[in-house]
Amino acid sequence: MKQGYFITFEGPDGSGKTTISTLVFNKLKEHGYRAIYTREPGGSSIAEQIRQIILDPQNIEMDKKTEALLYAASRRQHLVEKILPHLQDGDIVISDRFVDSSLAYQGVGREIGLQEVWDINMFAIEGRVPDLTIFLDIDPELGLARINNRSFKDRLDQESLEFHKKVFSGYQQIKEKYQERMVIFDATQTIEELTSEVYDTIINWIATKESHDMD
Ligand code: TMP
Repeated sequence: MKQGYFITFEGPDGSGKTTISTLVFNKLKEHGYRAIYTREPGGSSIAEQIRQIILDPQNIEMDKKTEALLYAASRRQHLVEKILPHLQDGDIVISDRFVDSSLAYQGVGREIGLQEVWDINMFAIEGRVPDLTIFLDIDPELGLARINNRSFKDRLDQESLEFHKKVFSGYQQIKEKYQERMVIFDATQTIEELTSEVYDTIINWIATKESHDMD
């Protein structure tokens, strides 16, 4: 059977990723595409348990390398338990975040280094990078202002503007480095505009892929 497509959504906190990815996923289902929706950190029972530990605002003493390893561990479990089986079944897998988040947040935000974070993640994902990444771009000040009125802020949401600016600069490097699989959108557009643009991009990308596969 033909493998499915692995599509990730990335962007800083407050970029609207979860809202847009959910709406796009629903639209794909309405149009008859076989798709599943998942997220990181989490996406499977064990990975969700690791998520609780990572994001618990009380875990202030967590070392940055422990944090990076926990994200990679949760990613490994999510990949083998959920992502790969669905891709094997030919489904489109939509994931709210994946490895690029670790590169931006731990690699650059926490200053562990892009290469170091890439290396531990390669151990976890064995080269299974996304086929297509939808990147929602937003200035960190604006992103943080959007999440400021959330009733619950996780451990990373509570980080300083300075940290979020570093994450933003990390994402700018990643966008350059992995241009071949990234499509960038201005996240300040309306929800309707973004949903429709992202949806059209995905179905056109799939159509192109499938026409090449027939060649
Ligand atoms: P979420 O707000 O998209 O659910 O993600 C939770 C937080 O975890 C968010 O602040 C981004 C952060 N994160 C990382 O720092 N590294 C990662 O690898 C992932 C997947 C998320």
